[in-house]
Amino acid sequence: MPKPFLSIEGLAKRFPSPGNTAEPLTVFENVSLGIEKGEFVCIIGHSGCGKSTIMNVLAGLDEATEGAVIMNGKEVRGPSLDRGVVFQNYSLLPWLSALKNVTFAVKARHKDWPRDKVMAHSYKYLEMVGLSGGAELRKPSQLSGGMRQRVSIARAFAIHPELLLLDEPFGALDALTRGTIQDELLKIWRGTGQTVFMITHDVDEAIYLADRILLMTNGPQARVAESVEVGIPRPRSRDEIVEHPNYYKVRNHLVHFLARRSKELAGSANTTPNGQPETVRFGEGIDEEQSGRPPLYAINQ
Ligand SMILES: Nc1ncnc2c1ncn2[C@@H]1O[C@H](COP(=O)(O)OP(=O)(O)O)[C@@H](O)[C@H]1O
Ligand SMILES: [Mg+2]
Repeated sequence: MPKPFLSIEGLAKRFPSPGNTAEPLTVFENVSLGIEKGEFVCIIGHSGCGKSTIMNVLAGLDEATEGAVIMNGKEVRGPSLDRGVVFQNYSLLPWLSALKNVTFAVKARHKDWPRDKVMAHSYKYLEMVGLSGGAELRKPSQLSGGMRQRVSIARAFAIHPELLLLDEPFGALDALTRGTIQDELLKIWRGTGQTVFMITHDVDEAIYLADRILLMTNGPQARVAESVEVGIPRPRSRDEIVEHPNYYKVRNHLVHFLARRSKELAGSANTTPNGQPETVRFGEGIDEEQSGRPPLYAINQ
């Protein structure tokens, strides 16, 4: 069988114990996943389970202790402009203005573009995230946390990477800006055929955006236990999505996983034969009982 666009194979990350006196700390292990080209995948799990570490390995910025990441048939080794990253802590170049942080990346991506094309393209993305009218000329230290995050988003979106890696990208944004930028992200994703791998702790955001949602157990020795298919057709509207029969089934499943099962499954071994997470699918005629899930976690209690 051909490999998927992104193939994560038996990934593990271990850190030596302080002074090498005890067993190394295994953050996660046996993480095997396939992601198809053009998929929008979110990953959810409690703080510290290793989500950012997995993403840094996908970005080529950190090395796994075991296993490999293959993208487009080639092993990921070191960073590349084919993989755009929005970090949890934005990471802008502090000596450059917001605008130059974006043009710098666009120039690196499109070495043959004339200056005015680079400028127009960069401005388009800065305006999209609501940074214009002079704010784009300020340096990161002169911007609020939310504004810095928006520069980082504009920079990643502007280079149209084949794989967009987003680490809780909207966490620092107010609800209104967050909604606008989520919709822009969906528009870009639909228009470019990009593949998106996004970390979030917001279950509603994940359901609104993703094709499927990966659930990680608590660390240490975390693993990706399940891949939950959202199964809600696109384009999705914020108002109508809650009416879809899958919405609360998926939502309850995610909330129940975070509240209970992420802990119960911590340290347990994977039981699927190919080491991939178990697929969870809801739809007509399938309910939680039939798919072997525990009873619904009641929300709003
Ligand atoms: N350099 C390091 N040395 C030891 N432990 C580390 C190091 N970097 C990260 N960790 C540990 O790895 C775990 C996963 O971290 P992280 O990937 O940031 O989690 P998440 O993004 O899911 O919150 C945490 O328990 C953290 O303490
Ligand atoms: Mg993190």
